[in-house]
Amino acid sequence: MTQPRLRFPDGFTWGTATASYQIEGAVTEDGRARSIWDTFSHTPGRILDGTTGDVACDHYHRVDADVALMAEIGLPAYRFSVAWPRVVPTGGGAVNQAGLDFYSRLVDTLLAREVTPLVTLYHWDLPQSLQDAGGWTNRDTAERFAEYAAVVGAALGDRVPTFTTFNEPWCSAYLGYGSGHHAPGEADGSAALAAVHHLNLAHGRATSALRSVLPATGPSSGQVSITLNLAYVQPASEQPEDVRAAEHVDALANRIFLDPILRGEYPAQLQDDLRHVTDWSFVRDGDTAAIAQPLDVLGINYYTPTIVRASTTAERATWTARWSDEVIGALGGVPYPGTDLAVQVPKDGPLTAMGWLIAPETLTALLERVHRDYPGIPIVITENGAAFGDEPGADGVVHDADRIEYLRAHVAAVHEAIGRGVDVRGYYAWSLMDNFEWAFGLSRRFGLVHVDYDSLVRTPKDSFRWYGEVIAANGVA
Ligand code: FCB
Repeated sequence: MTQPRLRFPDGFTWGTATASYQIEGAVTEDGRARSIWDTFSHTPGRILDGTTGDVACDHYHRVDADVALMAEIGLPAYRFSVAWPRVVPTGGGAVNQAGLDFYSRLVDTLLAREVTPLVTLYHWDLPQSLQDAGGWTNRDTAERFAEYAAVVGAALGDRVPTFTTFNEPWCSAYLGYGSGHHAPGEADGSAALAAVHHLNLAHGRATSALRSVLPATGPSSGQVSITLNLAYVQPASEQPEDVRAAEHVDALANRIFLDPILRGEYPAQLQDDLRHVTDWSFVRDGDTAAIAQPLDVLGINYYTPTIVRASTTAERATWTARWSDEVIGALGGVPYPGTDLAVQVPKDGPLTAMGWLIAPETLTALLERVHRDYPGIPIVITENGAAFGDEPGADGVVHDADRIEYLRAHVAAVHEAIGRGVDVRGYYAWSLMDNFEWAFGLSRRFGLVHVDYDSLVRTPKDSFRWYGEVIAANGVA
């Protein structure tokens, strides 16, 4: 093999990622109760192609084969999420041993193939019973989450080196309660901000709960992390009002999580800017200290930059949180969930099948920014990848040169950041295989492995083989 031009530091971790509702299926088996995504996906009109996660990739019944697939490319690490409604079906109270056993077997199967598990505790499938009591707008949900985290930590902590409390709380709060785009489908700005705070609080409480059950030393050393989908926010112009809108969105998207978690406070300006939406009374004495628990790793998911402009007075007057074709058409942009002060502008340049601009240099810039403003915390890229209109060729294989190029460019962007001093320890490609892409259903494919949703047959794409070469070489050409 020729030497790669961009070699990564020894010990750099290469992985792939998935999430429970997106791949597992088996939604009524072995005591699993309903989650908000079961309810949402079964509500007409919510999912673009009308599909659900009832079967998805049927991973629940195919763990052995899926892990064997990982072994084919010598995959060093695998990030998956635990479905809360399998483990504590009603969200609080009785633990369902069969649910825990499924994940325990998965961990053993991974370890037998020398794949290191990274466990996410919450990738959006909130037990429906908790939503019935208000979900993330209800402060109690944070306490229930900490109890659940301790249950999973105690069961798997002897074999799992790193636990992530949340995947992308931005989506849970702003898409779930702000724009209504994701489960539970509410569109209320003040509910979204309450959800942000309760997710942050749940992260802090769960981190403390995990510390009390995880081994402090040994091969499984009890690391705790959170994964944020940080935005690289650019103003649409250099006009002061657009620059100001970008700062506002940066605070709303990034600093509302980073600041309390890593600095123990909410951005003061943001609180002032949103007084017309909420009085922030959900933040109680002692909360920010509870949120700011020492953290071992910061997970970052990154796909595309965010470009915003200031909204006009007329737009503000007719502002609506919910995205719809009419709103997008009327504004020439998308209202940024959670605020009436900024509008996302359409992007100019190469796009993925999600309509996401491909701009790998913004990943380098984002990583440098995090390193500068929040120094000292090791970073792992816990998701990065792209959907394209994958069609199998005559040989039945998807020749996804576009995905390979997307991944290569973003891996190179991570390498560049490391060269500039950013402490990035790993990279997880999204996703191991095609899966249920939330509001887009089965209509968007992000996998390195193609899934035929009729036969459920898995067929590696070119990108899967290519990723195996990256792993073997510890770098890209
Ligand atoms: C992220 C999600 C992940 C997947 C990718 C495409 O926001 O964490 O589940 O849907 O986007």
